[in-house]
Amino acid sequence: MFRATLLTLMPDMFPGPLGQSLSGDALARELWALEVRDIRAHGLGRHRSVDDSPAGGGPGMVIRADVLGAALDDALAPEDARPRLLMSPRGKPLRQERVRELAAGEGAILVCGRFEGVDERVIAGRGLEEVSIGDYVLSGGELAAMVLLDACVRLIPGVMGKLASGSEESFESGLLEYPQYTRPRDWEGRSIPDVLLSGDHAKIARWRREEAERLTRERRPDLLAPDG
Ligand code: ADE
Repeated sequence: MFRATLLTLMPDMFPGPLGQSLSGDALARELWALEVRDIRAHGLGRHRSVDDSPAGGGPGMVIRADVLGAALDDALAPEDARPRLLMSPRGKPLRQERVRELAAGEGAILVCGRFEGVDERVIAGRGLEEVSIGDYVLSGGELAAMVLLDACVRLIPGVMGKLASGSEESFESGLLEYPQYTRPRDWEGRSIPDVLLSGDHAKIARWRREEAERLTRERRPDLLAPDG
């Protein structure tokens, strides 16, 4: 079973949206598991302090190496081979290919950063792989972890009703998804393209392919580039 172990300073944010809809139903059906651990349980002193000012000066606070290291060591058995991810805007951008790999595996450890970051020595010392969900800065890694888990969970066998819907959508083909229509046939003077009502499946497949290519060219030419 896909097991997610999540380290955070904001445990109350979970399961949050992951407890709803597709991922929530799958959680209830035990198709995956979510363990949320409070980093502050390893905080120091009476105030359970987890952070301190950056060495060398500068704004903000950095999560201490000893605190996060202890939280990780407590969460992980030595033989635990799941990828250890640190959600960070500095990480490698998350793509569907990596999502597919993760979803096919045993699960993941997800560390949610806060403040200005985490002490670099924990990243090296515990082999954390930094992952970004996009070129913008969130106030913490929690929402990023939810995004990553949502993307993985829907690919776990049995989670999605129709098998095909996982592989026919945007990115799985390297293209954006073609436009979809349903009833009514005419709406506010706009009608469904005739080809989709023709019953000619070869023609429909060709139209969809061309539309997917057109949209990708217009919106995401980077996906078409050979070394994209
Ligand atoms: N934490 C803050 N911003 C982030 C981002 N863009 N991706 C992953 N984690 C983050």
